[in-house]
Amino acid sequence: MNAKSSILLGVNVDHVATLREARKIDYPDPVEAALVAEKNGADSITVHLREDRRHIQDHDVERLVAVTNSRVNLEMAATREMIDIACSLKPFDCCLVPEKREELTTEGGLDVMGDVDQLSDSIHRLKKSGIKVSLFVDPDPKQIESSRLAGADAIEIHTGLYADSLNPRDQEYEFDRIKECAKHAKSIGLQVNAGHGLNYENTALISAIPEITELNIGHSIIARSVITGMAEAVKEMKKIMESSRK
Ligand code: PXP
Repeated sequence: MNAKSSILLGVNVDHVATLREARKIDYPDPVEAALVAEKNGADSITVHLREDRRHIQDHDVERLVAVTNSRVNLEMAATREMIDIACSLKPFDCCLVPEKREELTTEGGLDVMGDVDQLSDSIHRLKKSGIKVSLFVDPDPKQIESSRLAGADAIEIHTGLYADSLNPRDQEYEFDRIKECAKHAKSIGLQVNAGHGLNYENTALISAIPEITELNIGHSIIARSVITGMAEAVKEMKKIMESSRK
């Protein structure tokens, strides 16, 4: 009998911090959410420390690295500021992503091919600090080969176009690109992760690709937890109010 091959789940808790930052107070706490995720099957916790600090703050990353038992995967732009922060906080993994200040979320993969020398320097610094480095790339064989040239340990394939496809034909086309690139990346020695836009409807197909080691999923899990957690949250508040009226 064949043993089932396993697949790992990295839970991205950025949007717990988005909710907190909407009021600039101290809850909900992304670190508390990370611990709940970890207790319920998350294999790693991902956070994106953005240049504009719109959700995750430096102290969140510091606390996460200190308290979580699973791996912390720090997503960040390959800027000098971020590389310095990572080398000092030492998350287990770093995923380098392109970042534009005005974007709502990461919009596409890195142009590794156009920036191999500079990315190699960043990767070298991170690896010297003992951090495993992955590059967020579109499902494009040239970007994947350049990732290996630049010295990355892993790639994270951008699944955004697959997730955002407007019809089954486009989705199948995007799925095939991801599948072929996953195979190619593994064959040249890269660990293959994937993520962006994955939700409760579109994840199973991607997760069945045998070359993929880990999926990083954020928005859909946090969005689902708001709804599934609503029952308890309302019951608890009602109980507090009623028991104050004795
Ligand atoms: N992977 C990377 C590199 C990302 O930038 C993001 C978004 O922060 C994710 C995965 C998770 O995407 P989503 O929130 O759409 O699940």
